[in-house]
Amino acid sequence: MRLFAFIFFCTISFYGNTQQVSISRRVDSLIAKMTLDEKAAQLHQISNPFSATGPITPVGDYLQQIKEGKIGSMLNIVGAERTRQLQELAMQSRLKIPLLFAQDVIHGFRTTFPLPLAEAASWDLAAMERSARIAAIEASASGIHWMFAPMVDISRDPRWGRVMEGAGEDTYLGSLIAAARVKGFQGAGLGTPASVMACVKHFAAYGAAVGGRDYNSVDMSERQLRETYLPPFKAALDAGAATFMNSFNDLNGVPATGNALLQRTILRGEWAYKGLVISDWSSIAEMITHGYASDTLDAAHKAILAGSDVDMESHAYYRYLPVLVREGKVPEKLLDDAVRRILTKKFEMGLFDNPFKYCSVAEENKQWNNKAHLAEARNIAAKSIVLLKNDSLPDTQKAVLPLKVSGQKIALIGPLVKAKSENLGFWSFDWPDDSIRIVSLWEGVKAAVKDTAQLLYAKGCNLNDADTTGFAEAVHVAMQADIIVLSAGELRGMSGEAKSRSVLNLPGVQEQLIKRLAATGKPLVVMISAGRPLIVGNNAAQSQALVYTWWLGTEAGNAIADVLFGKHNPSGRLPMTFPRTEGQIPLYYNHYNTGRPAGNDPYYGTGYIDLPKSPLYAFGYGLGYGAVTYSKPVVSSVAPKGNETLEVKVSVAYDGNSPRTETVQLYIRDKTGSVVRPVKELKKFQQITLLPGEQKVVGFKLTTEDLKFYNNDLQYVWEPGAFDIMVGPASDKVQMVTVNWGR
Ligand code: GLC
Repeated sequence: MRLFAFIFFCTISFYGNTQQVSISRRVDSLIAKMTLDEKAAQLHQISNPFSATGPITPVGDYLQQIKEGKIGSMLNIVGAERTRQLQELAMQSRLKIPLLFAQDVIHGFRTTFPLPLAEAASWDLAAMERSARIAAIEASASGIHWMFAPMVDISRDPRWGRVMEGAGEDTYLGSLIAAARVKGFQGAGLGTPASVMACVKHFAAYGAAVGGRDYNSVDMSERQLRETYLPPFKAALDAGAATFMNSFNDLNGVPATGNALLQRTILRGEWAYKGLVISDWSSIAEMITHGYASDTLDAAHKAILAGSDVDMESHAYYRYLPVLVREGKVPEKLLDDAVRRILTKKFEMGLFDNPFKYCSVAEENKQWNNKAHLAEARNIAAKSIVLLKNDSLPDTQKAVLPLKVSGQKIALIGPLVKAKSENLGFWSFDWPDDSIRIVSLWEGVKAAVKDTAQLLYAKGCNLNDADTTGFAEAVHVAMQADIIVLSAGELRGMSGEAKSRSVLNLPGVQEQLIKRLAATGKPLVVMISAGRPLIVGNNAAQSQALVYTWWLGTEAGNAIADVLFGKHNPSGRLPMTFPRTEGQIPLYYNHYNTGRPAGNDPYYGTGYIDLPKSPLYAFGYGLGYGAVTYSKPVVSSVAPKGNETLEVKVSVAYDGNSPRTETVQLYIRDKTGSVVRPVKELKKFQQITLLPGEQKVVGFKLTTEDLKFYNNDLQYVWEPGAFDIMVGPASDKVQMVTVNWGR
């Protein structure tokens, strides 16, 4: 058996290497035939001018330019037929080099999945990989080769609208999710069926924009960059990411697009990345606006030297790279290297062998209404919902949720009860049949209760105006019901790119509506939909139950109903801290202790005199139906040695009456270091299923690899000493044991 396995492995690796050698030879022979202009064209990406996702650069007759081999790839073109038409034009060019078609498929294509931040709240890596795989299946069936995803920017600032696109504030969780999404998109590897190129973005530290203001400057130590913001990119690279995208922001005074430390020293040097890097939308030309390039020629020069291979939308490369090479300012080899990287991807995708392999209308139709995809979307959407509060009612001493499916009068009130496209959130596709396909909350609840419960409805108010004339009807409807379920939130377009907010409340008069409904004295369940953490303290205070429903996509209503009625026991855990006010931002769980931590001294402590020191809801927090109790962690040794594995065990008991998924989280604290260390660092987690009355022992293994950090000399090291090992259901609900880890 072993001999067979050995032969098999050798054959596979031989074939793989052979294929790479073959591609390399074919690329070299093609480059040898190319003119300077044809080479620059391969690095030139333009958007469909009629569906831009940024400020358009006038392009002229792009169809003729494709025929003349003047464009290497396109963005925002979808459809098997449409991409076939453009690919046919490319086949009329002198060298017949196929186009790549790219698209921001951030959380689903035809089937919209929950926002990436919502999916992160599921902590279900396998489900997130399946979500990305389905997006790739649907998008590739519609001609797309290149997904501008996953976005892996760590962010600690909910004012930044793009937190919706990432995995939250934690580097460890964000790294695991980055890898899962890359694997989902690329599947069995480029060139295999329905495999699409991932594009890890935005390299780097875009999520640390000052003030949470999109596109703003980023300034941090290289130590912080390497410890907090780079690991998800490295995890994505290790998962095989085919491409990277750099970012709009300047980092320590150098725009990422022209930043050689990022792209040459770290990405291609230390990490030995062989794939290609694309700029962000016009970010090459924007180096002029940054004040880093004097004109577009200078911008092209600085970008190619720094390692940006493909120019998205600024036209700088197409116009000026040939000039720079002819003037001897850019070695032709540098241009060839960049061209080699994009041609290699086109070969790996199989596009030279069959430029139309993703242009099958039959395949597109087959994937267009895939019921299994909708079921998967519903599944992860339910897992993404976070139950923040679930008080017991005074008369029954039973928790408000789950609701009974029969015998109740339920008032569904609020501007999002019958919303459809709002549920898709930012970076999603609006299809003509959305009014039928997207399941509203009203439809989801109706389908769940059928005619066994009486549903009442009132809109109450709009999402974002001062009109309170609907309040009276809402109160009237509420008074007829046994319980009120209110659905409120941001507008769909309030989070996403260029959507930073300085105030994170519910817009319009929604807060007032909640207050009026609370005053009725009826049990009140408040559900909030948004693309980021909002300031929800008042909503929590006014209600007996508070449910965070993010933007959940096509199956939103069904997923919410699954949680409301207990078909899915809520299992979401917050991937980002929820602050009490905007004034607390940035607020994150893995902060340093400082010399005067809040609460140590009644007077002298870091914090605010007008606010408690803690967040409203902590990273990793979320409730479920039924109570879970944790034992104190037990360790295999209180004095492990450097080469030992420390085993950590905890017992988890559950008293609920429906199966529950529990995310058991393990944090460490390095008590003393050559640089100060965070008070907590997530290092492991396990998702377990608990049946009613079940008790399980959960085991973790830690080694010194888990203790490493970047010291002041930027060495990635661990240091002996005391470590707190903490285990629990949330970052602020842990039990601890201390070990002394020696050399
Ligand atoms: C946008 C975004 C980037 C996206 C690109 C193409 O400005 O920053 O994430 O992939 O342009 O739409």
